[in-house]
Amino acid sequence: MQGLNDKVIVVAGGATGIGAATSKRLAEEGAKVVVGDINVEAAKATADAIDGRHLRFDITSEADCKALVELAVTEFGGLDGVFTVAADTSKETLGRDSESDLLTVPSMSGSGRWTSTSREPSS
Ligand SMILES: NC(=O)c1ccc[n+]([C@@H]2O[C@H](COP(=O)([O-])OP(=O)(O)OC[C@H]3O[C@@H](n4cnc5c(N)ncnc54)[C@H](O)[C@@H]3O)[C@@H](O)[C@H]2O)c1
Repeated sequence: MQGLNDKVIVVAGGATGIGAATSKRLAEEGAKVVVGDINVEAAKATADAIDGRHLRFDITSEADCKALVELAVTEFGGLDGVFTVAADTSKETLGRDSESDLLTVPSMSGSGRWTSTSREPSS
């Protein structure tokens, strides 16, 4: 099946895990995929495997969100969808439940997701 033929999809947090698997599945369906992740080496590996594009991207940065959308537009001519699954699942963070985690996690899960899905291409 190629149900997403030539659709342009950004995957925010696409370097590993669910994001990487989703990137590959989207590509199998014919989508052109842009992988954004703070782990740029793994983002490149995921993107290279599916003839996609990648960018070092922090979901908590509005400028990075804008840059990710603009990469989709410049490389593939538009943007049809965003899948956002970026999350800090490192062992240093998980289970720690410190005060800073309580500030960071909502930032990534709430405003980060809002920011990464509310950008419009500038042209
Ligand atoms: N894996 C599962 O079975 C499962 C099940 C249910 C829910 N989840 C949830 O789904 C989410 C993703 O899980 P996963 O297993 O794919 O984790 P993962 O750690 O493999 O993937 C998360 C990705 O987000 C990236 N990332 C971290 N901080 C970032 C930032 N500031 N900006 C951009 N990218 C950033 C990481 O580099 C990584 O590539 C988590 O919230 C997890 O709790 C996972």
